[in-house]
Amino acid sequence: MLRRLHKDQPASFAFTPANLEWAQAQITKYPEGRQASAIIPLLWRAQEQEGWLSRPAIEYVAGMLGMAYIRALEVATFYFMFQLQPVGSVAHVQICGTTSCMICGAEDLVAVCKQLIAPTPHTLSHDGKFSWEEVECLGACANAPMAQIGKDYYEDLTADKLRDLIARFGVGDVAVPGPQNGRYASEPLSGLTSLKDHEAGRDKYNASARRAVDLADTVKRIDGTEVPLTTPWLGQPAAPKPARGKAVEPTPGAGAKADVTGATVQEAKASSRGKPKSEGDAPNATPAATPEARVPAGEDTRPAGLAAPRDGKADDLKLIVGIGPKLEALCHKLGFYHFDQIAGWTTNEIAWVDANLEGFKGRVTRDNWVAQAKILAAGGSVAEAERAAKS
Ligand code: FES
Repeated sequence: MLRRLHKDQPASFAFTPANLEWAQAQITKYPEGRQASAIIPLLWRAQEQEGWLSRPAIEYVAGMLGMAYIRALEVATFYFMFQLQPVGSVAHVQICGTTSCMICGAEDLVAVCKQLIAPTPHTLSHDGKFSWEEVECLGACANAPMAQIGKDYYEDLTADKLRDLIARFGVGDVAVPGPQNGRYASEPLSGLTSLKDHEAGRDKYNASARRAVDLADTVKRIDGTEVPLTTPWLGQPAAPKPARGKAVEPTPGAGAKADVTGATVQEAKASSRGKPKSEGDAPNATPAATPEARVPAGEDTRPAGLAAPRDGKADDLKLIVGIGPKLEALCHKLGFYHFDQIAGWTTNEIAWVDANLEGFKGRVTRDNWVAQAKILAAGGSVAEAERAAKS
């Protein structure tokens, strides 16, 4: 499932003074040098403040933590808990569509969302109150099918139950989360078969449902405190849009070329193992930006090229894993004909070439061209070069 930043972005983001104070206190929980560990709570608070996570918000949090923007973006785009586009002002409904839920009726729940909210996921309902999406397993498989709405799980759902929940949220009702079929938690529907003494004197609701009921707000609460969301669509319920901001290329957090954990340095050396190896596959796919890839592609970092191959005979650059006829032609166009040329590229030169391989950006790093070229230039075998490509 693709998780991308929304096409319309606000121009800026800043924590409210109260949230800023809270965020700064969170950071102090982690040892010196490990502030990046606060990324999830800070992104979450940013989302609570705005309703969704915009690019400026992600960059703002990355800056607070001294992280490269790409590292924060990785977290924000990985977890379904982070909403990367505006969501309904009342509730965003996340339907689990993974195996247990799917075979127990998730498709019926999705159909309800399509009918009552919008035909497509991540689309606001006509009144701006609701949005929905299908997500992967939320870990409540024993209570399938289920949905997360706001911060709570609604389990053992049916199409009618979900229809009813959405209607109740729409009029400001607070529904009781948890199992919707009479179960207390995830025990058999016919009741406990063992440890029955646990039933005596227990609370009316299980612990998580109890907390939601006591707070009387299952959607927007923050640590039990009513904190109104500063949603950009408040006051403009019909198809609201955030202000369009100027897109800025990701850069590391202010004053930090790499995050303090050093992970960005490792990331720079990594190649994308899962990506297609042949140049014919996904030619426009660009690997995640690395610090090297962000080095300005000035002429000073351009590797020396040749006007023509030495002695009129170029090496067969296609012996380098990842280089095919198109990339070889591109290399020739840039003046690279020989293995020893590629073998001698410095980090900045690699970045320059990576940034200038039109349609194949990032391939030098991804496929470890330099290590391969060193082997081939020294008379090594193609098999050894292939192994270097994977190292
Ligand atoms: S499959 Fe739906 S919660 Fe696990």
